[in-house]
Amino acid sequence: MTADQLVGLQLFMERGCASCHSGVNVGGHGYCPFGLIEKPGAEILPPDDKGHFAVTETVDDEYVFRAAPLRNIALTAPCFHSGKVWDLRVAVEIMAESRLGEALHPEETTQIVAFPDSVTGTMPEVVLPVLPVETATTPHPVTAILP
Ligand code: HEC
Repeated sequence: MTADQLVGLQLFMERGCASCHSGVNVGGHGYCPFGLIEKPGAEILPPDDKGHFAVTETVDDEYVFRAAPLRNIALTAPCFHSGKVWDLRVAVEIMAESRLGEALHPEETTQIVAFPDSVTGTMPEVVLPVLPVETATTPHPVTAILP
């Protein structure tokens, strides 16, 4: 890892990012509130999009989303479930503000952004299966969210 990536990792842990983004894929194993301290604006988080609440209908799950894995994040823009943020730097600033309630120093943002770059690997090649031809008895996919 470069010096910037190491400082970025240190900041990532000190600032509490690792409390939600941790483990082998640096996140992706749990649900967390998006905007613990300050909710992002409607352009990033549409107000009627309440996340996990749509499935559980539990008030505690309002605005709770899967804490995205940060592995390969440098290759997988756009960011967030709403897909509204294309710049990783902007995504980190939004996360810090909604998490810390305060802006990061621009140099800290640069360092924190450097850290996920160190967990970029080779993107897996996805080969789509060729499905059999549909017949009269082929079941159709269920598109509704089941309770
Ligand atoms: C309270 C839990 C929590 C903390 C703390 C947190 N995050 Fe997140 N993070 C999330 C959630 C939840 C999402 C997914 C939001 C969505 O999909 O809309 C996310 C998404 C992201 C994304 C976009 C990933 C993608 O593929 O869309 C980045 C980048 C990110 N976080 C970086 C950080 C950084 C850097 C910090 C520390 C400053 C941080 N996060 C702190 C919960 C958290």
